Amino acid sequence: MISESNVVDGPHDAHARRNANGRPILPGGYGRSAYHVGRTPTYAVRGEGWRLWDDSGRELIDANGNFTTLIHGNAHPEIVEAAGRAISQGSAWGIPNLPEWDLAEAMISRLRGLGQIRFTNSGTEAVMSAIRIARAATGRDGIVMTKDGYHGSSDTVLLTSGPSRGVPSAVEKDVSLVPLNDIDELRRVFEASDETVAAIILDLLPNKAGLVGVDQQFAAEARALATKHGALLIIDEVISLRLSVGGLSGIYGIVPDLLTAGKVIGGGFAIGAVAGRDEVMDILDPWKPGSLAHSGTFSGNPVSVAAGAAALRLLTAEEIDRINALGDTARERASKELEPFGWEVRGRGSLFRAFPKGARKVAADLQQALWWAAYDRGVVLSSANLAALSTPMDASVVEDLTDRLIDAVAHVSAATS
Ligand SMILES: Cc1ncc(COP(=O)(O)O)c(C=O)c1O
Repeated sequence: MISESNVVDGPHDAHARRNANGRPILPGGYGRSAYHVGRTPTYAVRGEGWRLWDDSGRELIDANGNFTTLIHGNAHPEIVEAAGRAISQGSAWGIPNLPEWDLAEAMISRLRGLGQIRFTNSGTEAVMSAIRIARAATGRDGIVMTKDGYHGSSDTVLLTSGPSRGVPSAVEKDVSLVPLNDIDELRRVFEASDETVAAIILDLLPNKAGLVGVDQQFAAEARALATKHGALLIIDEVISLRLSVGGLSGIYGIVPDLLTAGKVIGGGFAIGAVAGRDEVMDILDPWKPGSLAHSGTFSGNPVSVAAGAAALRLLTAEEIDRINALGDTARERASKELEPFGWEVRGRGSLFRAFPKGARKVAADLQQALWWAAYDRGVVLSSANLAALSTPMDASVVEDLTDRLIDAVAHVSAATS
């Protein structure tokens, strides 16, 4: 399936570019901590559809997709065309632009019960803004989160696993953590809060917490408790929006007060978004006295939103169902074949990940070993081993990917037993 190399200008030695003190000019040799997979990295030089080429000329199956962003694969012609047209007319302006309205309309038509939206430049910024809106709307500071989740890198949400270096300890007093799916503890936190909770934030399929879905009853209870106690429910769909036209909250049938999005809605360009109910989002209306400011020099820039609108046009219910079904098949077969090795494959729809059976957390060295075992077999996973399917993939590509992943896990499990 993967062909011989047809690109590149030879291996790069970017990590060897050092400053006067002999240190790599990107700390650790990386531009993002999430690139770290425990050995000197390879470099991506080109992508096309589900294929990615590295700087040694190796052709790979791109199951990373820039951390689940590239749902239409690399350089999809319609998205390239939309982005190119936007760039050719000027990449960013300081007065409003029309493409922003197109993406806003596309999003609002997909998200049941939510009437208004603002764009940001990342999922991190979207979550940070949603929390600020919730705090301003309620006049409270408390934030409830499920343990070990991930909602980006702003101060409050970095505390999902407890205190975090660099986050002021003062931030901790406003954060309550609840074990995933522990309804009793969720109730206890709200009852004990003395009405100080501004919002509960939920990711319905938290990858960092083991890619175990939130129970329907837990999500429904979060919705009910937020309403009862005058707090807002924020559902973080930065990853999970890809799972249905209306996101995972649409499948659950739960309407949040605020929903955060990112990744797939930018067609491969930097983006994030906060969507919400009119009564909540009205707080951002600068025509109103005392409104809450939300800006960002590149928020809603015409390139990201034009690419995003093209990506959503291509992301029909049929295409989502097709890649979700490919994911179901892959997960079922891989789990069955990996059972004798004591591993399983979890996830939902087009997202999956291999775990030692029952494990919620995987040690970093095992995670890195699996990443390299997959890479050596021609598959690029995310550094946390998450695989994300894309619409250019068909059944034969996914079957090939699954074979390689099974072989990688078998290798790692033999090496560690
Ligand atoms: C659930 C969730 N929320 C927020 C974020 C942060 O998004 P970004 O990396 O675009 O800042 C991520 C990133 O992976 C995420 O998975």
